[in-house]
Amino acid sequence: MARHLITSALPYINGVKHLGNLVGSMLPADVYARYLRSAGHEVLAICATDEHGTPAELGALAEDMDVAEYCARHHETQRELGERFGLSWDWFGRTSSPQNHELTAHLARRLKAEGYTETRTTSQVYSVADGRFLPDRYVIGTCPNCGYDRARGDQCENCGKQLDPTDLLEPRSALSGSTELEVRDSAHVFLLQSKLADRLRKWVDSKSDWPNLTRSIAYKWLDEGLEDRGITRDLSWGIPVDPDDFPEAAGKVWYVWFDAPIGYLGATREWADAGLGGDDPRAAFDRWWRTGAGADEVTYTQFMGKDNVPFHTLSFPATLLGSGEDWLLVDRLKSFNWLTYYGGKFSTSEGRGVFMSDALELLPGDYWRWYLMANAPESDDASFTWELFGDAVNKDLVGTFGNFVNRTATQVVRHFGEVVPDGDPDGAAEDLLWERVGERLRDYTDALDQLQFRRSAAALRALWAEGNVYLEEREPWRVVKEDPGGAACILRNALRLALLHAVASEPFVPEASRRLAEAFPDAAHTGFTLDATLVDDARGSLAPGDRFSPPGLLFTKLSSEDLAAWEDRFGGGDDLGR
Ligand code: 2FM
Ligand code: ZN
Repeated sequence: MARHLITSALPYINGVKHLGNLVGSMLPADVYARYLRSAGHEVLAICATDEHGTPAELGALAEDMDVAEYCARHHETQRELGERFGLSWDWFGRTSSPQNHELTAHLARRLKAEGYTETRTTSQVYSVADGRFLPDRYVIGTCPNCGYDRARGDQCENCGKQLDPTDLLEPRSALSGSTELEVRDSAHVFLLQSKLADRLRKWVDSKSDWPNLTRSIAYKWLDEGLEDRGITRDLSWGIPVDPDDFPEAAGKVWYVWFDAPIGYLGATREWADAGLGGDDPRAAFDRWWRTGAGADEVTYTQFMGKDNVPFHTLSFPATLLGSGEDWLLVDRLKSFNWLTYYGGKFSTSEGRGVFMSDALELLPGDYWRWYLMANAPESDDASFTWELFGDAVNKDLVGTFGNFVNRTATQVVRHFGEVVPDGDPDGAAEDLLWERVGERLRDYTDALDQLQFRRSAAALRALWAEGNVYLEEREPWRVVKEDPGGAACILRNALRLALLHAVASEPFVPEASRRLAEAFPDAAHTGFTLDATLVDDARGSLAPGDRFSPPGLLFTKLSSEDLAAWEDRFGGGDDLGR
């Protein structure tokens, strides 16, 4: 048994997230967390809402609400939607929590003490028309690196370069569109990343098992020369700079990308303070985050979209390393490409695509979980289409998994009643079945260990398909006429395989798996672990005579009318000009 800390990139507070947000961090983190728990490991899965910076301010402005109230309301909405999608966080916290305020102030103080901060007078963009300084995202202009003409002042979404607003060519206000912008002086705290570059490079060098996408992004920034970053902003909403520590920057707030990743720590402390890690919150927290207090035994895995990689491979580690304290750094970092909607961008601002709330209005979370993970944008971008969604549901969930369970249940009940049949002992065909099941299961857990989600979904599908192959080879519906004992043996094995499916499928489709497991009230499957031992455990379970209560249809087939209506409602290929 090992200990695993899992974090998923913190979703911005500004409204309901779309399926692209879900598949790029929260959902794979959950599949992995569920897998590790089921394999018998100790897991702490942490997420939170990212509540500062301009997304929060702009969101509150659009809804004409006080920012704090806006954040509280949307945090609740996101928590509830996450739970309905089966996201099994140990804690879903908030970057605006007192715990995160305290940790952010603490780390800033430590960085200063270690000589990694400096106050510099900077030129900030001031909008005369708006009567205020314009932070990063409120300034739009042309990227000096690639020429993209709608680059934001914090990062160019076209080439990924981290920017400062004053880098932009032909800048304009995102609030009013005004080009009447002035540059005024303002004192800000800088994190001296350049002084940490050598330590960061050594650390990245040691991560030879990171995927190529992650490593190449980290080296790109290191090779280009890591620049010092301004980590305070002229905003009113955010974590206030402590004037005792940084009197020059009094009245300002920490930059959202400074406090957001600290939110992983903050949310863990919320969890500990709620008593969920035991009676001593400080020890419970330290055990997961301080290497001197036991966290050296923790494997820390982060999940995120590719745009977040520079912040997690460089900026956040710079904060932790520069503190001079023994914080746990990320071990494994899984990043995702983009999920597109018919090849175009999912867009929160333009409302294009399917959002978490829409999705749950149509179908339960399992359907979406399966489709999204089986088609995850892992090695490349992936495109959502209703046709692909329909295939994933109808062919995999209904036609393969559901079909096997349903055929088995029907035959058992029809010929033997609601019990596990007795009959002949297992023969050579059964040995072969369980051997094949063992191989499929090994493919599946290997892929999960390697954080390869499409591959693991394909292996799970193949594991389901073994059930149908076995039924078709052995034809219990035919055998039962002349040889009831033989048919009983076949169906007893099919039921045991269905029980194995219930355990193995739980990371991807937890709700259907739970229903299927409940069909076997006498089985000891709560003690099973999702590893190679599962084959023998499942085969050795379900004694003849144990109760079997048929689970009903696990999934419902989607009709072409359903799919056409949804394409109509949400827009399809044609509406996006393709
Ligand atoms: O890109 C985003 O959606 C950010 N809210 C991710 C933050 S991850 C972490 F650093 F908090
Ligand atoms: Zn660019």
